Amino acid sequence: MSEVGAPPLPLVGPVVLVGPPGAGKSTVGALAAARLGLPFVDLDLEIGRAAGTSADEVFAGEGETSFRVREAAALSALIDGRNALIAAGAGVVDAAPNRALLDRAHVLWLDVDDDTALARLAGARPWLPDDRAAQRVAYRLREGRRRALRATLARARVDGRGTPEHTAGAIAEVVAALPLPASRWRGDVLELANVVDRSADPLPSVLEGALTLVDEGAPTSLPGLRLPGGEAHKSAAGLERVLRALDEHAAEGPIVAVGGGAFLDLVGTAAALWRRGTPWIAVPSTPLAMADAAIGGKTAIDVRDTKNAAGAFHAPLETRLSLGLLRGASPAMITDGLAEALKHAWLVGEALDHERDPARWVRSSLAIKAGVVARDPRERGLRTALNLGHTVGHALERVHGLSHGEAVRRGLLSALWLSERVLGLDAAVSSMLRASVARLGALPPLALDEGRALATLRRDKKGGRFVLLAALGRPVLLTPPDEAVRAALAEAARAAPESP
Ligand SMILES: NC(=O)c1ccc[n+]([C@@H]2O[C@H](COP(=O)([O-])OP(=O)(O)OC[C@H]3O[C@@H](n4cnc5c(N)ncnc54)[C@H](O)[C@@H]3O)[C@@H](O)[C@H]2O)c1
Repeated sequence: MSEVGAPPLPLVGPVVLVGPPGAGKSTVGALAAARLGLPFVDLDLEIGRAAGTSADEVFAGEGETSFRVREAAALSALIDGRNALIAAGAGVVDAAPNRALLDRAHVLWLDVDDDTALARLAGARPWLPDDRAAQRVAYRLREGRRRALRATLARARVDGRGTPEHTAGAIAEVVAALPLPASRWRGDVLELANVVDRSADPLPSVLEGALTLVDEGAPTSLPGLRLPGGEAHKSAAGLERVLRALDEHAAEGPIVAVGGGAFLDLVGTAAALWRRGTPWIAVPSTPLAMADAAIGGKTAIDVRDTKNAAGAFHAPLETRLSLGLLRGASPAMITDGLAEALKHAWLVGEALDHERDPARWVRSSLAIKAGVVARDPRERGLRTALNLGHTVGHALERVHGLSHGEAVRRGLLSALWLSERVLGLDAAVSSMLRASVARLGALPPLALDEGRALATLRRDKKGGRFVLLAALGRPVLLTPPDEAVRAALAEAARAAPESP
């Protein structure tokens, strides 16, 4: 549980400082992390801690190859999606396994010229000879190739020649403006996620697989074993029904699930449990399931008033998109999908133009989600950003029986309200984003059951913390004071007119 009044935690995932020896990565990194409210990790200290000694001793005693193996192990443990600023050693870019790991983080290059580095390093590095000319040669021999590698890996280069405070300020500015990662379509396949666009194929071939379970609410023309879908069946009873069906058919996997987000969550949970984990394939049939629920591997069922209370991380083997299914979608279903797509767009700093072709916003929404979940599959840090609007949204969904999409729209409005009041989100940005929500349709007033909604919020997995926007594209995690939470709930329950 985080404290009310604690600084907001920027949801950026791991940020790694690289740079030559003498650039000041550890000193400046610690200062910048403190300014940003991010935890700071010194990779060399982690390597030493794991070896029961210091990084220098490991290097000197075991040699460089062994040091790099230890370095890769320490880095791999840290690049798990957590929000942290990590200072790495100068040679971290030398090893290919490290470079592959760094691809999953934001890399910042803290740079200084050779003279500054050599002046700062005088007497501090055993590999530097005493003679000044020889020093320069030794330094360039080590650093020459690394510069090119840093240039390829780094998102930004920061000049490290100023005072530590000044440089820390510059780093904090760059980190605060880092965009959330998104993924790219390559032909019909989404990079970084097993999403394959099968829109051009006839549906039976899209659905091919061992056993196909189909959401009863989806169009009847779909072949497969039909089972009830929707939120009411995303429950222990619904789970038992699916498990019984798998047992009757002696399912060996992969199991193909065709349906809305609730059905995919339900069948995904069953697949995680069936024979202690059976592969499954997701075929989303609603706009929301396409834009969001069908990727990322979070599966769950609801328990009493608690949304997604029990479940597992069990990513589908593949998500097959068939955009033709959108043709039968009602305007309400499109609106529900757009609510999640709006959230995704805000997280990467865009205000979605929802008049666009649904196929386009489905694809861009998927791509943003894929970029985030690929870097943080287990929700260690960055992925928390996807909960924008969902803390209040989930509470209202369970307590008032709203559709997920309506609950998310109301949750987004309350997140904007809180962001403006508690974090100082620019009022012009907030009103522009509020107008985007209003364009999705009117929201009637809700007779808020404040007591139950607050009780549900208190049971939320984030322990009282809310994802809010410090700016468009800058999600942070914060614990607002109780009065602000109450007011934000009231805001979510208010009538909101549709805007043209
Ligand atoms: N796992 C995740 O990462 C994730 C992300 C976002 C949302 N979700 C979950 O997704 C759920 C919401 O999904 P949803 O908006 O798809 O609603 P839904 O799954 O409840 O579906 C709404 C209704 O549409 C019916 N339906 C399904 N396909 C249809 C079609 N092609 N045409 C007409 N009707 C169809 C369903 O039977 C259901 O009655 C929530 O439970 C939410 O928690 C999960």
